This record gives sequence, C-alpha cells and structure tokens, in this order.
Amino acid sequence: MARVLLTGGAGYIASHTAVVLLERGHEVILLDDFSNAERDVPARLERLTGHNLPVIEADIRDSEAVSAALAAQPVAAVIHFAALKAVGESEADPLRYYDMNIIGTIRLLEAMQAGGVARIVFSSSATVYGQPDSSPIPEHAPTRVQNIYGRTKLVMEDLISDLARTGKLRAAANLRYFNPVGAHPSAMIGETPRGVPNNLMPYLTQVATGRRPCLNVFGTDYATPDGTGVRDYIHVMDLAEAHALALEHILAHDVALTVNLGTGIGISVLEMVQAFERATGRAIPLNISPRRPGDVASYYANPAMAERIFGWKARLNIEDMCRDAWRWEAAKAGINDV
Ligand code: UD1
Repeated sequence: MARVLLTGGAGYIASHTAVVLLERGHEVILLDDFSNAERDVPARLERLTGHNLPVIEADIRDSEAVSAALAAQPVAAVIHFAALKAVGESEADPLRYYDMNIIGTIRLLEAMQAGGVARIVFSSSATVYGQPDSSPIPEHAPTRVQNIYGRTKLVMEDLISDLARTGKLRAAANLRYFNPVGAHPSAMIGETPRGVPNNLMPYLTQVATGRRPCLNVFGTDYATPDGTGVRDYIHVMDLAEAHALALEHILAHDVALTVNLGTGIGISVLEMVQAFERATGRAIPLNISPRRPGDVASYYANPAMAERIFGWKARLNIEDMCRDAWRWEAAKAGINDV
C-alpha cells in the first residue's frame, strides 16, 4: 500500500482515480489549485469513500508549496493530472498552455527530485497521434500533434521519458487516454465542464436535461460507416482502475512505459446518441452541422499493451457510459427519473 500525491486531484479523472486507489488500500493526497475543479469535490469524495482526504491548495508551478507538501507527507509516487486541456483555448493562448503544462511539469519534476520522489504516472492523451494512418492505433504509431494542447502533452511525455532514461526517475508510465466519459455510478462525482461543453458526452447530457435544445452533429460525410466521427470512448471508472494498476506496476518495477488506455472499440456519434437514448429513455433532438475544424474521421486504440503489462482491460460498455453520465447530469439538474 502506498501514499500517492494526485496533482489536479479534484479534477474529473483524478477524483475517480482517488476512489479506486482508496478502495485498493492506498493513501491519497490531493493537490489542486481549483482553477477548473469544484470546491466541494474533496468533501464529496470523503462522503463517498469514508476516507479522510488531505487537500493541498497549490499551483504545480509553485515548487515551494509542492516541496513543502512532499516534505510534510512523503509519497511513493505522483500521479500527474494537473493541466489545461481545451484545444481551442490552447490555440488562442499558446504561452499560457506552455507555461501551465510544460513549465508546470518541469517545476513538479524538480520538486519531486528535491523530495526524493522518483516514480510518476502521467495523464497523457491519444491526441498525440493526431491524424493516424489507421486504427486500431498501437503505441509505436507516429506522433503528429495537431494543436498546442497536443504539443504540450507530447512535450510533457518527453520530459518524463528523458528523466527516466537518464536515471533521474526510477519509474514512469505515460498513459494515453482515448475519450474518457461517464461518471461514478453513485452520481456523487463526475465531469463539470465550465461554459458550453466542447466534448460530445457532456453536451449530450445537457441536451437530455433540456439545458440545450439539440445536439449538433459535426459532420455526416466522413468516411465512416454512418458518416459521423468515430471515437474510442472509455468509462472513467475503467480509466481510474487502469491508473491504480499502472501505479502498482511502477511501484514494483523500474520501468518507463507509454501505454494506450482505450476499449479498442470505435463508436460513431450516431451510435452514441442511440445508445444514450436506449440507456436513458430520453429522446435527443439532432441538428446536422458542418464538420468541426481539426476533427479526425476515426480513431480508436489498440489496447493490447495495457492488458499485457498491467493486466487491465476495459469492462464497461457504451450503455454503462451513457447511464452513468446521465445519472450524474440528472442529479445535478435535480431530475429524479434515474
Ligand atoms: C477532443 C479533443 C482532444 C481531447 C479530447 C478529450 C479536439 C479536436 N480534440 O477529442 O484533444 O483529448 O477531446 O476527450 O477538440 N461531436 C459532435 N457534437 C458535439 C461534440 C462533438 O458531433 O457537440 C463529435 C466530434 O465531431 C467527434 C466526436 O463527437 O467526432 C467526439 O468529440 P469530442 O468529445 O469533442 O472528442 P474529440 O474531438 O475526439
């Protein structure tokens, strides 16, 4: 059992990972600046898990604060989630993204080195593959970043891999997520995007509550079976479990890994809408719209490496994802039909 620091610990994926880590007997410390996380997430996590959760309110670029936290409560590893993550915003303000994501990671790695913490799990993204030649995408596929956000994720991966290669880190796992969706089945934690959601699932759930009139389907003329974009959606609880297994692997082995986390199954926008309607009994009005600039027609993971190395495989299907995403959004909206 290990004590672990989660940067961005109150965020969407980190909060679900915290639940799984606590269930598996680990001790969790959350570090967050609450710039893109709700203040009540730690309290919700405590209610959900029955565990006490230390919270450090700090920016990862604040080496002094991070060093002080690591000195006060030494940890076996860091899981590094803290980052800015909006593609459009990254193109509008590149320096802000370089500063928070890249400089932030450097500052964090410095504080870890000073505190003798030599193991890290990093929250990367399949966005580093850009426009892939084909799917399923294996980890050795070329990386072709398409935007500033993707660039920062790739640089962060490289920083971590370099430190592992030169012996400054003993173990590291870069985890490339495909499209995380859903929420904890209790509906006590989930995703809370600020403003108009960019991503499909949070938009879909807001149409279902009546907060938005219809779902804009961005493009029906792609070279995919029904013409709409195909993605590898993965339930956030499966993703959380993968983090726990990756952590346990890097605690036991001195390795540097880059691993896809996806289901290996491609789902189109229209298939997602149908699964949502089946899982929730709610009709989703559609508005067929032009393609969204920068979108890829289709991509999904080859998830074989995660199974081989961590013994992990996604277990939850698209209806589980829709049901749990809906439970969370409905609970927030005060709708009681789930
Ligand atoms: C986006 C980001 C990616 C990031 C990921 C996080 C872009 C170009 N990519 O991926 O870098 O890592 O989110 O999950 O922003 N769609 C609609 N209507 C909507 C929203 C989306 O039809 O209102 C379609 C899109 O065209 C796409 C699919 O749904 O085909 C998934 O979109 P989205 O959830 O935004 O994820 P990605 O674009 O794959």
